[in-house]
Formats: sequence, C-alpha cells, structure tokens
Amino acid sequence: MTPASLTQEPQSVSSAVTRSAFFIVATINEDATSRAAVRAWCADVANLVRAVGKRVPGGNLSCVVGFSSDAWDKLFGEPRPAGLHPFREFGSGERKAIATPGDLIMHIRADQTDLCFELATQLMKRLEDAVVTVDEVHGFRNFDMRAMIGFVDGTENPEGDEAVHFTVIQDEDPEFAGGSYVLVQKYLHDMKGWNALPVEAQEHIIGRTKLQDIELDEDVKPSWSHSSLTTLDDAEGNEIKILRDNMPFGRPGQGEFGTYFIGYARDPQPIEQMLENMFVGLPPGNYDRLLDFSRAVTGGLFFVPSQPLLEALADRVPGAAPTIAVDNHKQTESEPAAAVSADGSLAIGSLKGAPRYE
Ligand code: HEM
Repeated sequence: MTPASLTQEPQSVSSAVTRSAFFIVATINEDATSRAAVRAWCADVANLVRAVGKRVPGGNLSCVVGFSSDAWDKLFGEPRPAGLHPFREFGSGERKAIATPGDLIMHIRADQTDLCFELATQLMKRLEDAVVTVDEVHGFRNFDMRAMIGFVDGTENPEGDEAVHFTVIQDEDPEFAGGSYVLVQKYLHDMKGWNALPVEAQEHIIGRTKLQDIELDEDVKPSWSHSSLTTLDDAEGNEIKILRDNMPFGRPGQGEFGTYFIGYARDPQPIEQMLENMFVGLPPGNYDRLLDFSRAVTGGLFFVPSQPLLEALADRVPGAAPTIAVDNHKQTESEPAAAVSADGSLAIGSLKGAPRYE
C-alpha cells in the first residue's frame, strides 16, 4: 500500500521487525550479458517475494534491493539519484569505517529462516552467473531484540508515518520519489573485552541502561556515548532520524560475534554524519567507545528504487532517453553517458565537504 502522501510505492523499507534476516552483497560481472541479466531480474523480484511468501501466511517475507553508485551508472545510466555516491570512509587506523566492493544488496526479512533461505535461493538462481556474492550474512533475533553486545537495539527507531518521513524520498528528487538510501556495515566484536567491562561502563558507552533499556540522564550520559553521537538535530533543532534494522550474527565455534548494521534514510548525509561522529568524534577525538570493541569489516552505500521504478528498470537502456517508464524490452546496451569511477575509487577525504549538524 502506498501511504497517502506518497506518489510512488516504496519497496518494503519500513517492513515489520522480523526474527530473521539475510543480507547479500554482490558484484555484477563486467560484461553486457550480465548487466542485461541483472536488469531483467529487477522485474522478477516482486513476483518471487509473492510466490515464496504465499507458502507461509503471516511469515512477513520481504526483500529490499539496492544498487551502488558505480552499478547504477553501468546498469542504468542517466538520470541518476541525486544523493548516490560511493561509500565515504571515515576515521583512520584501527578505527575506520571502510568501503568494500558491492554493486547490489538484497535485504531479505522474514519471521522464519526457511523463508529467507528459499527467497535468497530463488533470487540467486535468477541471477545465475551474472553476479559474484562478496558478502552474505544470516542474522537472527536475539531474545528481546538484544544486539550481540546485550543491549536492546532499535528502541529509538521512527515508526509509521515518521519512518516514512525519514526514509522515503519525496519532492527533493521527484524522478526518484518513493526511493531511499541504505548504508550497511558488518561489524565484528571483541566479546571478551566487552564482557570484561562492568555493566555500568557498558551503559555509559551505549547511553542506556542494559536490563531495562532506559536512556541515561543527560548529566550521567557521556558526550562520547553511542546514543549522544548518533542523535542529530537539523538547523531548527528538530531531530533527524534514520531507520535501523540491525541484526546479530555469528559463529560461536569460530569465535565470530557480529552486528550487521543497516540504516535507511531519504538522504545518505545524516547516516554519514553519524559515522563521522562515531569514528572521528564530535569534536574530533571524542569518538564512540563502542568502536574500541567493534571493528567495521565491510561498508557500502546503495540506492533503493521505489517498487514501480525497480520493475521499470528492467527495461532501462543506459545512454537512451532519460525516461523511467519505458515500454520496449531491448536487451542491448551502450555504455552509460556518465560512468563514474569503479568501486575501488572512494571519496576519501570528502569529510571536509560534508554538512554538519550542530
Ligand atoms: C557495532 C554496531 C552497532 C551496535 C551494536 C549498535 C547498537 C545500538 C544500540 C544498543 C542502541 C540503543 C537502542 C536504540 O535506540 O536502538 C543504538 C542506538 C542508535 N544507533 Fe547504533 N549500533 C551500532 C552501529 C550504529 C551505526 C553505524 C549507526 C549510524 C551510522 C548507528 C545509529 C544509531 C542511532 C541513530 C541510534 C539511536 C540514538 C538515539 O536516538 O538515542 N548505530 N545502537
């Protein structure tokens, strides 16, 4: 259903919080046949979600698909979403938000792992040899929505109309209305170090109590707490939110304990500002102490087209006239007019240009 205020139906960005989620990031092979296969696949996604989802009524199966900046240019060319750019890195040394390869993301959610598994299988089958999976994470609900580090995660998320307001592009980029941006990072935790901290120290790091999940009073909460550094206000003092659906994952037998961070917004800037605050610090040096126990091992930024645009992209021919709803089914392609650098070329140092929320 399209909310009344929206002209284009979003993908299931703000779908219900589920018990299970798969995150698949893939690169698309460089040949024209692979690109044509990925474009054609865009029209299949909704049908596959419907077909697989029907098998378990109430299973809440959904899938969100997004494309990186480089992939967008190669697959679809102009016009392009205004805010789409390669992942911006923040921080340095041990504390760095790194960019890693990835053209395509699938965020699959359901209340049962078998539904996620079956949909992922069907989606990958259609893509066949056109892509190479570079990261795949299977996340699970951890008791009462506890992150791997034992704190409830997702409490301050916007809901309902507020979630739509903060995640769905509207008049600011009319051609891409109904779309969103999604930023992902896979984190690995030093659980030994984290668990060695007294609970009170952990609470200062997060900015909330551990058992009851209540925000600490301002006079107790350090300015370097995760909650302080990720709370943003606009110029008028109104809070700017993002929508997160992080999931714990891991392999205890291998000593792997992680959090898959996934944040949706109608502009990448607020999420990037949070990353800058966390990794560089606000002011610089006053960084997020959660990062003393958590290392980001992947990073990607993707544009999530509206549902109708995702389907129409199947017919997009890069370099052709800029129209979204084309009705011919050509499988040929010319090179995009404005191809940007490959994913390896990152906007490192772009920190300076980023607007600030003070
Ligand atoms: C190691 C990975 C991370 C873990 C384990 C984690 C965990 C948490 C927890 C437990 C909370 C408090 C409860 C809540 O409101 O959800 C929280 C809040 C929040 N986190 Fe994270 N987080 C991680 C990474 C990130 C990143 C990378 C961002 C943004 C780029 C982010 C943005 C936020 C925001 C916006 C809030 C709500 C702040 C508020 O309004 O008080 N988190 N996170």
